[in-house]
Amino acid sequence: MASKSPPEIIKIGLGVFFGIIVVLLVVLYLNTLSRSEQDIYINNDEEPIILPSPGTKGELSLEEAIVARRSVRVFRPDELDYAQVSQLLWAAQGITDEATGHRAAPSAGATYPLELYYIDSKGVYRYNPSENLLEPLKSGDYRSDLASAALGQNFISQAPAAIVISAVYERTTSGYGRARGERYVHIEAGHAAQNIHLQAVSLGLGSVPVGAFNDNQVKRVLSLPENNEPIYIIPVGMPN
Ligand SMILES: Cc1cc2nc3c(=O)[nH]c(=O)nc-3n(C[C@H](O)[C@H](O)[C@H](O)COP(=O)(O)O)c2cc1C
Repeated sequence: MASKSPPEIIKIGLGVFFGIIVVLLVVLYLNTLSRSEQDIYINNDEEPIILPSPGTKGELSLEEAIVARRSVRVFRPDELDYAQVSQLLWAAQGITDEATGHRAAPSAGATYPLELYYIDSKGVYRYNPSENLLEPLKSGDYRSDLASAALGQNFISQAPAAIVISAVYERTTSGYGRARGERYVHIEAGHAAQNIHLQAVSLGLGSVPVGAFNDNQVKRVLSLPENNEPIYIIPVGMPN
């Protein structure tokens, strides 16, 4: 086989090099596209709701909140005010260290797979922890649809509000592998949920964890992106 002259080899090398660069750029572009698709949560027709800053002093001791917490399934119809909403969502996923971005509940490797949705008589919202606001997704009262998705547990439609904890698993499984990562996500959802329950007690509210629901139906009610799976529904309100 005739050997290539040096300029030809340089040409081939440059061709391969630029080929690799082009492939890398295409992969990066496709990745950006799919990420931005996954991250579209905001209904741009409506302004986000800026929540009041959460407080760090409460009326009850932690021990009093633990002993008083019981699952509540009968609620008064009174709507929550935004100070209460802010406090509940912050307790689950609020930023508690501005320097690191770390949140109120621990997270394996600080991968933060959880997303929070807030549903009341007016609409469905996504909680944005870094800006402490609610991003409107859908307007209208979807509480009955959520109750139907939860195997007809009607107290969900009677509660003034519900918080849904969901997860984008790959944020955690990409580093820890599927089995371990999924386990970590579920543990983390428990941390966040318990913070909501105890914060509710501390605010004089009641809540109940609901794990019995049809995942796909809940996804449809909330219009969750494909890679975002619901884990917990937590109805919350003033106990009756
Ligand atoms: C993972 C999990 C799933 C649950 N799912 C439901 C549910 O779908 N519906 C419901 O009414 N309660 C549900 N509960 C609440 C339990 O029934 C409740 O915690 C239990 O009866 C103990 O009562 P307590 O929470 O008042 O201490 C669930 C609790 C857990 C931990």
